[in-house]
Amino acid sequence: MEFGFSEEQLMIQDVARRIAQEKIAPSAEGFDRSGEFPLDNIRLLGENGLMGIEVPTEYGGAGMDPVAYVLAMIEIAAGDAAHSTIMSVNNSLFCNGILTHGTEEQKQTYVRAIAEGAEIGAFALTEPQSGSDATAMRCRAVKQDDGSYVINGKKSWITSGPVARYFVLFAVTDPDKGARGITAFLVDGDRAGFHRGKTEPKLGIRASATCEIEFQDYVARAGDVLGEEGQGFKIAMSVLDAGRIGIASQAIGLARAAYEATLEYVKERKAFGQPIGAFQMTQAKIADMKCKLDASLLLTLRAAWLKGQGKRFTTEASVAKLTASEAAMWITHQAVQIHGGMGYSKEMPVERYFRDAKITEIYEGTSEIQRLVIARNETGLR
Ligand code: CAA
Ligand code: FAD
Repeated sequence: MEFGFSEEQLMIQDVARRIAQEKIAPSAEGFDRSGEFPLDNIRLLGENGLMGIEVPTEYGGAGMDPVAYVLAMIEIAAGDAAHSTIMSVNNSLFCNGILTHGTEEQKQTYVRAIAEGAEIGAFALTEPQSGSDATAMRCRAVKQDDGSYVINGKKSWITSGPVARYFVLFAVTDPDKGARGITAFLVDGDRAGFHRGKTEPKLGIRASATCEIEFQDYVARAGDVLGEEGQGFKIAMSVLDAGRIGIASQAIGLARAAYEATLEYVKERKAFGQPIGAFQMTQAKIADMKCKLDASLLLTLRAAWLKGQGKRFTTEASVAKLTASEAAMWITHQAVQIHGGMGYSKEMPVERYFRDAKITEIYEGTSEIQRLVIARNETGLR
């Protein structure tokens, strides 16, 4: 067993930490207030290899492994969770599926643009009536005689939807086949028949723009199919396995920021003639925060390591995402409590960490769905 990191892994962690501390953290409060998309910072992440960490260098990426991705995501999320949401979709949800199932042409066109930070990518699975129950999607792609598809339907809650150029879209090609009747497509948001809705007002990760998108007779060419027709649901699920490692890392980063702010505060703030960190009740909270953070980190590194070894990691990714997201919610809750009235004020960042943490229990599969995946895999029952 090896607990150290390679030089390469430490190098990308260092690059991410520097950008997070110098550019992202100082601007996070402003972006949270305005809800503006942090385009310049996102471009900077792209220029530094952070939008395609696991993408081979021949497609414009950094050519590193999943552990390096975890380390970098944690640093960016500690700077600001919203930035790490955008980074996570580009890295895990957009690039992963194309690298595994895409043609050479698709990799050169779509992966390169995203990995280099020239464009932003998105992943469109959810619909107004189908979130957890993803196979209940209705967006329809009808095959034409020339091999192209005409697409009609809506997708909701699409991260980076308002700004992304390219989308991995899942649509029904054969309504009689259930999960096996879903196909993945690569969509260009600049083409006719593609429409973007209004940006959603959100509780947290406010700088990560989210919207509904709609297809009205959008024509996808035969070459825009990702993988085989009917393989789309499996592609979505395997991409989400990887995505869940990214969200676990996001949860760890933002929880670590809340923990570190709390460690400072308990030494400075005095009550009853002593630092509040000297009270045993505060110390118990600090100890529990530390245990949950470390457990989340180790479980997430395990899932990333398995992915890097080419082994199955579905259960381990769900264990990591479930543990880290619930830990982030608990840790940020305690951070607000330990800051007292100041924890409730926008003058301190902990109220933002608390708001941002909640999303990690919802997207890329709610906590209930993670429990379902883990228990189904463990028991073989459903
Ligand atoms: N890898 C590969 N294939 C898989 C798989 C996996 N991890 N999980 C399931 N499959 C396959 C199954 O083997 C099955 O294939 P066959 O038809 O050949 O047997 C097929 O997919 C259907 O599987 P299930 O019967 O298990 O499907 P289900 O309807 O019971 O749903 C579910 C399973 C786990 C609940 C799934 O629907 C799910 O994960 N729901 C949550 C959706 C989600 O996470 N959405 C995230 C949207 S993206 C997002 O949120 C981005 C962001 O925030 C930034
Ligand atoms: P529902 O599925 O309606 O669930 C409602 C409640 O019922 C939840 O508590 C859920 O856990 C519970 N529930 C449902 N089924 C079960 C069950 N079988 N057992 C027990 N409990 C159950 N989607 C994309 O495709 N792309 C994106 O980029 C994207 N980004 C997002 C960004 C944000 C900010 C948000 C809020 C969502 C985003 N989503 C995205 C959608 C997200 O993945 C879904 O919101 C999530 O999967 C839950 O689906 P739902 O909202 O429809 O809730």
